[in-house]
Amino acid sequence: MLIQINNLTKTYQRHDGAINAVDNLSLDIPKGSFVTITGASGSGKTTLLLILGGLLQPTSGKMSYNARELDLLKEKDMATFRSNHVGFVMQSFALVPYLTALENISIALNVKDKDNDKNRKRALELLEWVGLSDRTTHYPKELSAGQQQRVAIARALANNPDLLLADEPTGNLDPSLSEEILGILKDINQKQGTTVVMVTHSPMAAEYGDTKIQLKNGKLHTNEKV
Ligand SMILES: Nc1ncnc2c1ncn2[C@@H]1O[C@H](COP(=O)(O)OP(=O)(O)OP(=O)(O)O)[C@@H](O)[C@H]1O
Ligand SMILES: [Mg+2]
Repeated sequence: MLIQINNLTKTYQRHDGAINAVDNLSLDIPKGSFVTITGASGSGKTTLLLILGGLLQPTSGKMSYNARELDLLKEKDMATFRSNHVGFVMQSFALVPYLTALENISIALNVKDKDNDKNRKRALELLEWVGLSDRTTHYPKELSAGQQQRVAIARALANNPDLLLADEPTGNLDPSLSEEILGILKDINQKQGTTVVMVTHSPMAAEYGDTKIQLKNGKLHTNEKV
């Protein structure tokens, strides 16, 4: 198993009460799987994804990575976990507007390794992988929505994550662009062996998963292996 979570709960406290966004959830994510998560708005999908990626601390529960328990309370350990193992793709592409496609990817590499030639090569390789070799010097506003999302995917892959987390990666795209992005995610999963966990509202997109999970009120409603 790549990830195991046990009895995970995330309670958001507010002045008007508490919400269990994730409610005593246990789940195994096998290495190399493509997991899709669906569920109504507010069912806890994003909250779960943020916890899986070590970006949000649960209120209680345990999480293991490669059979080793993570110390969810130690921010430094979690930051190491994130930078070594996790890539994120979000619905809004979150590219830096004043950097080119190539630079948007190489900054993600520069953080870890200052070898600029090596980083440039790797960034070019990633852009080729997502089919954007001819757009390296374009700025985000000079790219279509689908192309921007592909740059965002390339950036998420920059550090060779074992786990790629995607929150509504096709939410802003029309159906044909959505299929293109889903195809890239499937390729990354099948050819690179990267474990993918994707949140989606679209039943068509959910079909790309080999494991389909449905959340309801922060709980596991269905967990279907295809
Ligand atoms: N920071 C927060 N503070 C308080 N409540 C929150 C916070 N973030 C989320 N919630 C609540 O937790 C619940 C789960 O939110 P979450 O964002 O995980 O849902 P979601 O399934 O991703 O929904 P959507 O499909 O609309 O993106 C919701 O009821 C939401 O209102
Ligand atoms: Mg969400």
